[in-house]
Amino acid sequence: MTDSVNLVIDGKTYTLPVITGTEGEKAIDITRLRQETGFITFDPGFGNTGSCLSSITFMNGEKGILRYRGIPIEQLAEKSTFIEVIYLLINGHLPTLEELNKTRVILNDSSLIHEDMHIFFQNFPKASHPMGILSSMVNALKSFYPDLKNNDNLIKNFLNLISKVRTMAAMSYRYSKGEKIVYPRHDLTYCANFLNMMFDSPVHPYQIDEDIVKALNVFLILHADHEQNCSTAAVRVVGSGRVNLYAAISAGIAALWGPLHGGANQAVIEMLTDIHKNGVSIEDVIKKAKDKNDPFRLMGFGHRVYKTYDPRAKIMKKMCDKILGKISKPDPLLDIARQLEEVALTDPYFIDHNLYPNVDFYSGIVLRAIGIPTNMFTVMFAIGRLPGWISQWKESMEDPNWKISRPRQIYTGLKENNYKNIQER
Ligand code: CMC
Repeated sequence: MTDSVNLVIDGKTYTLPVITGTEGEKAIDITRLRQETGFITFDPGFGNTGSCLSSITFMNGEKGILRYRGIPIEQLAEKSTFIEVIYLLINGHLPTLEELNKTRVILNDSSLIHEDMHIFFQNFPKASHPMGILSSMVNALKSFYPDLKNNDNLIKNFLNLISKVRTMAAMSYRYSKGEKIVYPRHDLTYCANFLNMMFDSPVHPYQIDEDIVKALNVFLILHADHEQNCSTAAVRVVGSGRVNLYAAISAGIAALWGPLHGGANQAVIEMLTDIHKNGVSIEDVIKKAKDKNDPFRLMGFGHRVYKTYDPRAKIMKKMCDKILGKISKPDPLLDIARQLEEVALTDPYFIDHNLYPNVDFYSGIVLRAIGIPTNMFTVMFAIGRLPGWISQWKESMEDPNWKISRPRQIYTGLKENNYKNIQER
């Protein structure tokens, strides 16, 4: 395999090294390009740009492959738990029983939130979006837990953050409903604890259902990492200025909020509800999505990397059938989603553009079945993605060649121009 490529500029040949990844992916190393040639590259949206070397997650968008630390997502969704996946992503290997138990103890011990923080939650306007609250509160953690250091306690600090984000997510929901918060319980597993904090009530004690707990585990596992996506790139870029972990994760949460990224799960349900309520035909929705003069897009379809069916969407679709079958409460939105998928997958526009359902297309229906309100969907994505962001932040901090992120630009503004006094303008 070639280990260099030649670039010819004005008759002069420059040899650029080629980097090859474990799975045979090739990259042209342009780190010395500007210095040697005076040229930079132009790649809006970074579709062709590798920003780091990473050993965490492998994706092949053409074949629909996703692996964490080499393990296929299908195996993890079937056999693992979210706690194991947290450990796997951060430490690089699956935990032994002892390591798993230790992880559980730390998660349990750190699940409370400083009582002084409760006042913040109480004072956000009731209509605040929980993603805005979560992003602010994660940033605020640094003031309450300032001892975060890049040393021996790092893994413990990571687990503290993971545990607290789960508690804070449930708290923001309870306060938004004007209800008293439910404290975490030491006797419940990570996902069961979250469900209990969300839904337990003195008048309707929450009944833990192991199938629902399993569904939540699978949801979180499927979202746990996805290499250099928008929010992970945000965590790395913000972190590259050597900001503290909380600030970097808070930036990741803000980036995830967007409807083209993690906010798509909420947007899908809003779209399906709109179709249902207004009786819009499937054909009209598809027509609208194809219309270049209409900004509407079929939410939950398409992906920058996947040019085939998103492997996470396949698992999520199966989970939909299982959970809805279990609660024996049909969801009309699932029927609409199925019809939309069927029509889109045979439509030449969607075929030519390689547009397939992504993870968000069916995830909202699973979350609805679990009882999660629509405005909390992206928060659920954030809880899932947290171990991925943390692992990527850790990897970047440990990279001996890490540099502050600072892209260049091609300036297209005015040439040098003189200042005019206000009377002359
Ligand atoms: N509906 C209709 N047309 C679409 C869609 C869609 N959902 N997605 C892409 N296209 C078209 C787009 O109009 C463009 O057409 P043309 O080349 O004729 O101008 C072409 O496909 C390529 O689109 P793009 O925006 O250049 O592709 P991208 O790789 O930059 O964007 C995407 C990827 C996910 C932002 C986009 O597919 C999209 O907006 N999808 C809907 C939102 C969504 O579901 N987001 C969740 C992504 S998965 C969760 C996550 O990890 O974030």
